[in-house]
Amino acid sequence: MRIDKLLANVGYGSRKEVKSLLKSGAVIVNEQVVKDAKAHVDPEVDHVTVHNEQVVYREFIYLMMNKPQGLISATEDNFQETVIDILEPEDAAMEPFPVGRLDKDTEGLLLITNDGQLAHQLLSPKKHVPKTYFAVINSEVTESDIEEFSKGVTLDDGYHTKPGELKILKSGLTSDIELTIMEGKFHQVKRMFEAVGKRVVYLKRISMGSLALDEGLELGEYRELTDDELGALRTGQQ
Ligand code: URA
Repeated sequence: MRIDKLLANVGYGSRKEVKSLLKSGAVIVNEQVVKDAKAHVDPEVDHVTVHNEQVVYREFIYLMMNKPQGLISATEDNFQETVIDILEPEDAAMEPFPVGRLDKDTEGLLLITNDGQLAHQLLSPKKHVPKTYFAVINSEVTESDIEEFSKGVTLDDGYHTKPGELKILKSGLTSDIELTIMEGKFHQVKRMFEAVGKRVVYLKRISMGSLALDEGLELGEYRELTDDELGALRTGQQ
């Protein structure tokens, strides 16, 4: 790949900034100063330093974010702040994207990566990756809702969902529940509750496949996946 692309990808600034870095003579490839932004390097083989600091190239980045309300799950938007906007510049430089969408007012687990193959594997309807949500509902959730959800419910557009596993954590004037679903239709959790005449007033995703939200992450914080988390996600363990 081109040296300017490599350096921009690992966080040495924009292509323009990287160009002047190269011009300044700070970049050494295999013990030779390289000033040409178009020069090609093999990041797996060539030894690259900037100001004597070794450049470690990684192709992929895997981040777990505790998404706060108010951000949209997109990479770019002209008007609204996205989950990518709050990443550190060196992470954003690797051009990751959110795997699936959480609504603007939904919190919780969001995987952000630039590994398209893994994203596809997790999002493919054929793979039936379970996603579990914690929600607060505006009224009393009952055993009959558990029964209804276990058979699937019919949404406002006529679509009949796959079975959902509903657990009641607290039932009363408002209820706390956990719902596990295997698909990801638009606003699915909210619409499933609307189908039984109830409303979601708070929604948070707590897991996706084998990956559970790290409760140590504050809203808006994120961290890299551990090797174990990534390995389990890749092999589809749950
Ligand atoms: N279901 C919803 O209704 N909203 C989300 O953000 C995720 C699942």
